[in-house]
Amino acid sequence: MNTRIENLLVPQIASTNVVVTELVDLTPVTVNPKASVNEVIIEQGRIVVNAQCEESARQGQNYVKQLELLFEGKVPTCQFDFYNPVWRYRGFHIDVVRHFMSVKELKRIIRAMALVGFNHFHWHLTDDQGWRFAVDGYEKLESISSKRVKYEFDDERNVHSGFYSDADLKDVVDYCSELGIEVIPEVEMPGHAEALLAAYPEFGCTGKEIPVQNSWGIFENVMNPASEQLWTFLKATIAKLVSIFPSKYIHIGGDECPHVQWETNEGCQRIMKENGLKDTNELQGWFTSKASALVKSFGKRAIGWDEVVDAPEIDESVVVMSWRGLEGAKIASSRGHEVILTPQNAGCYLDRYQTSEDYELGNWSICTARDAFDLDISMKDLPQKQRDLILGAQCNLWAEKIHTGREAEYMMFPRAFILADNLWLGEKRDWDSLCARKKAMADLCYYLDLVCSPAKW
Ligand code: ACM
Repeated sequence: MNTRIENLLVPQIASTNVVVTELVDLTPVTVNPKASVNEVIIEQGRIVVNAQCEESARQGQNYVKQLELLFEGKVPTCQFDFYNPVWRYRGFHIDVVRHFMSVKELKRIIRAMALVGFNHFHWHLTDDQGWRFAVDGYEKLESISSKRVKYEFDDERNVHSGFYSDADLKDVVDYCSELGIEVIPEVEMPGHAEALLAAYPEFGCTGKEIPVQNSWGIFENVMNPASEQLWTFLKATIAKLVSIFPSKYIHIGGDECPHVQWETNEGCQRIMKENGLKDTNELQGWFTSKASALVKSFGKRAIGWDEVVDAPEIDESVVVMSWRGLEGAKIASSRGHEVILTPQNAGCYLDRYQTSEDYELGNWSICTARDAFDLDISMKDLPQKQRDLILGAQCNLWAEKIHTGREAEYMMFPRAFILADNLWLGEKRDWDSLCARKKAMADLCYYLDLVCSPAKW
């Protein structure tokens, strides 16, 4: 055995030339989270993690777990230093609406994400094609909104429905909490709401019955900001989420909401007149502020996709997820909003193809491993005051073409590992070091029973 430790671990460690020569049995890890250094010491009969903060202490233990996996239950004697995380928000998103994923499938991915230092799981729970959890008093969410007919990209492996019980949600929350991950639930509003409107047309603008959507795209049937019944429902929904998710955030969607129905809806026109709103963009801003105030009334903070800043003014407490590129982050931070980067064109959209090979699974464009490495989370071109509002970044896995948990894994790994390096190391990240750890990343997936894409990078 003549392996170098720095070629094995994600995120990259600070020490170099630490050569492993001997394997010993795993022993309980002694953790000191108030040390002056970050280091892992593995000796015969003794494993110590010294760290400068709780997060680093956890990652030190994650390094020990990675070694335990890679050396099949033993650990190598060694001593190495590692870094503190650069970014405080290190997120991953999974869409369980377009195709449902079981708790078991999710946990397999979550475990790997925790091992490499991710600390937020953004759970996309509602969309046009489904609604995935119960709200007391709204039973049709399960009987109608959670089911759809066959979808254009479905094949014989697909389920066309799926609903998490409260126990399922809590199970995931508890599992994540053990691993140091905060779970942020998302309820899409006011757009991407056809599954909800299929069960409760009175929350929409036309009152017409529609089916749960079985295709994907952007649809005109959206929530009606003027519906009192809708706001009663949203209050019950947020109350339900707050009762299960301890996260300080609730994601309130906000993306891709067509306004055509608002243009002619009497209630919408009335709200616009009463509030001096000059167009439907401002009406969406009004909706965002009302939804964010609702979230705030439960002691939580709202996060929204970057369309929320298409309106000239929204509550400053809303955190903005910049997905249509980095423009949203620029605008939002110039207006004092905290921001999370998840640009679809720069290394964060894991639903995109990994290479140009014909056999690749994916949507529209190519998002390579190098793109995830290259993402400049620090946005060097912005004034410092705006840069201070960047919380971190997130990778997103949209599931229009992801039929199974295994396909989800193929899309996530290794690109998510590369973003993990970027988030943990910032400017210290190093492409050659990443490339030297390619095999270790594939091995980590192997030992965690995960599919890892063999795409070249
Ligand atoms: C998004 O990708 N529509 C946020």
